[in-house]
Amino acid sequence: MDKLIIEGPAKLSGSVEVSSAKNACLPILAAVLLNTKPVTIQKIPKLRDISTMQDLLQKLGTTIVSSGEDIILDGSTVNSVTALYELVKTMRASILVLGPLLARFGEAHVSLPGGCAIGARPVDIHLEGLKKMGAVIDISAGYVHAKTSGLKGAHYVMPFPSVGATENLMMAAVLAEGKTILENVAQEPEIEELQVFLNHMGAKVTGAGTRLIEIEGVKELKSTTYQVEGDRIEAATYVMAGLITGSHITVTNIRPQKIMSVLEKLESMGAQFNLGEKHIEVLAVKNLKGCRVDTAPFPGFPTDVQAQMMALCLTATTSSLISEHIFENRFMHVPELIRMGANIVLEGHSAHIESSKLTGAPVMC
Ligand code: UD1
Repeated sequence: MDKLIIEGPAKLSGSVEVSSAKNACLPILAAVLLNTKPVTIQKIPKLRDISTMQDLLQKLGTTIVSSGEDIILDGSTVNSVTALYELVKTMRASILVLGPLLARFGEAHVSLPGGCAIGARPVDIHLEGLKKMGAVIDISAGYVHAKTSGLKGAHYVMPFPSVGATENLMMAAVLAEGKTILENVAQEPEIEELQVFLNHMGAKVTGAGTRLIEIEGVKELKSTTYQVEGDRIEAATYVMAGLITGSHITVTNIRPQKIMSVLEKLESMGAQFNLGEKHIEVLAVKNLKGCRVDTAPFPGFPTDVQAQMMALCLTATTSSLISEHIFENRFMHVPELIRMGANIVLEGHSAHIESSKLTGAPVMC
C-alpha cells in the first residue's frame, strides 16, 4: 500500500486498541543478542521497522520462529557480528545491535546509519560510552569497528539524554564486568520498558525512568516471555484524530501517564478526557484554542507527536506556535499541509500556525 485515499470530513466513533510500542520493541529485539537462551515476544506489531530488525537479527544468525502474533528468538545460533549497510541504511535503530554484539562477542562491525530525512543524527554518544567501557573503536569505510577483550563497568555522563545511546549502553553494560553508572540518561518510557525486559532475562538494572541508571554486570541471561506495552505515539495520534474530527472515541492499551505532557497541553486548549488505568476516553468538544508547544526529551512534549499536533492546531480558533528542539529538519509535513490550504509560516525551528480551512489535495509523506 503506497497510497491512502481519505474522504473528509468524517466523524469517528468507538474504541481502538493501540499496538505494542514500536520504539520499545526495537531495543528489546536487539537485546535478544545478549542471550543464548530462547526468548518469546508476544503480540509483536506488524511494521516495516520491526521486520527490518528481524531481518537484521536473522542475518546475524538468530533463529526466529513466528507463532501467531508471537515470535520466538534464539540467539544461541548467532554466528556473525557484522550489520551490513544494506539493512542499516533502511533503519537507523539498527545501530542498537552494536552494544549487545560487542558485549557478547567482544567484536562488532556495524554500518554507520548516516543522516536521515529529519536531521544528521550522529552516534557519537553511543561510541563515547562504549569507549568508556573499554571498547576500542575505529571508523572506516562507513563502518563502526568495535573490539574489546571484555567490557568493564564504567561511569559515563551523557552530554545529551539520547534515547538510542542510553539503550545501547544499558544493553552493553548487562554483560560487562562490574558496575556501570550512566548519568544524564534519557527517561523515555521505552527505557523503563527495556530495563523491565532485561531484568526479566536476569539482568540487574535499576534507575530507568530517572536521570541515573545503574547496571551490575551478569555472566549470562535466561529464557523469558515478554509482551511490550502499548505505543504512546500511536495513542497520541488517535487522540489527535478524535479531537480534529470533534469525535467521542476511546483509545485502549495505553497508560495515560506515558503521554501526560500531550494530554495536559490538549487540556489547556480545551480538550476533555476521562482517563482510566489503561485507556483514554476523548470527549467530543468544539472550538479548541491554539497553543504553544516546545518539543523536549521525556517528560517533555515528544517530537514524534509534533506533526500530529500541528494538524490539530490548524483546526483551533486561535493561532499556535510550535518549536522543534530535538531534530533540525522535522517540518517536512508543513509544505504538504500548505498544499491543503494550511496557513503556516516557518521561521527557523518554529512554525506559526493560524486557524485554517483545509481542502483535500494530493500530498506526499
Ligand atoms: C528515538 C526514537 C525516535 C524519537 C527520538 C527522540 C527509536 C527507535 N526512535 O530516536 O522516534 O524521535 O528518540 O525522542 O526509539 N544525538 C547525538 N549524538 C548521538 C545520539 C543522538 O547528537 O550519539 C542527537 C540526535 O541527532 C538528535 C537527538 O540527539 O538530535 C535525539 O536523538 P536520540 O534521542 O538519540 O533519538 P533516537 O534514539 O535516534
